[in-house]
Order: sequence, then C-alpha cells, then structure tokens
Amino acid sequence: MSELLEYQLTLYPDPLLRKEAEPVEEFGEELERFVQGMFATMEKSQGVGLAAPQVGRRLRVLVLNATGKPEDALVLVNPEILERSGPQTLFDEGCLSFPGIFAEVRRPDRCRVKAFDARGLPIEARYEGFQSRIIQHEFDHLEGVLLVDRMSPADKLRNKAALDELVERYRAGRPASVRSR
Ligand code: CO
Repeated sequence: MSELLEYQLTLYPDPLLRKEAEPVEEFGEELERFVQGMFATMEKSQGVGLAAPQVGRRLRVLVLNATGKPEDALVLVNPEILERSGPQTLFDEGCLSFPGIFAEVRRPDRCRVKAFDARGLPIEARYEGFQSRIIQHEFDHLEGVLLVDRMSPADKLRNKAALDELVERYRAGRPASVRSR
C-alpha cells in the first residue's frame, strides 16, 4: 500500500477549480490507478470526498467515503444527478480546496445518481443524508461551483480573513497545500 500515488491539492482560487470538467472516455488501468491516488490523497488530507479538479485534472471523477470504512468507498465516474429530493437540510461543509474554512450549506437530503465505476460498469442508485450531501458537494466541483458560491453572506464575512489569506498565498505562489486539519 505504500506505493499509492498521492496528488497535490488544488486550492482556491486556482482557476482550474472554475472550469467545467470533461467526461472520462477511457476506462481501464490508468483510470483505476488515478482513482486509487485520489482515495490516498483524500484519506491523507482527512477528507470525506474529492473531485478530480481538486487534484489538477479536469475529469468527471469523484470519490467519497462517508464513514471511513473500506466498504463505504464510492467512485462515481461521469456522474449525473437525475433527481434531488427530500427536505432541505443545513450542514456545515468543509472542502479540501478551502483548508480551515467551513460554511453552512442548504441542500436537498436525497439524490438519485447515474454514473460508472472505475471499470466502466454502470451504477444507478439513490443516496441520502451525509453520503448524498458529499455527492452533491463533489458534483458541484465538476461544474466549477465552489463552497464559496454556496456560502451565506454571513458565512462569507465570517470566513473573510481565511479566504483573503488563500487568495494572497495563491498570488504569492505559495499555496497552503496539503495542510491537514
Ligand atoms: Co470541495
């Protein structure tokens, strides 16, 4: 397990995070290795979800694990959210591209998703609760939508110093990368 690739995190406000990701066209060993590297990066950073643009790749791939148990690891390639439903819930979300920043985001509790796994096998499933929330957050990344876009004005103000610091570090070319929290 020591040979797993780990990637550098792409941090806000890197413009790559704003680009729409492209569909995966080729399934196979290379994609599976990439997915393993995404999991390794996510785990090392103590995250519960990660989208490919967050490791510098404009691909429609996301990984998540809501519990940390191996059996709950989930890979969604070329995901589509077919339906969002259920009560709107508020949750304090974090994001590996925004180290140290949290903000309450409102999202519907459930979603129905169509996607492929890393080998190209189709998946269609319903998710709810924390898992559904992570999927919706990571899916946003594939569209170039970020935590900062979902923040209330109050949360933006509360996080202003931390956001400004990220911008400052990016401009200075010394991103606060791989800082675990
Ligand atoms: Co995120």
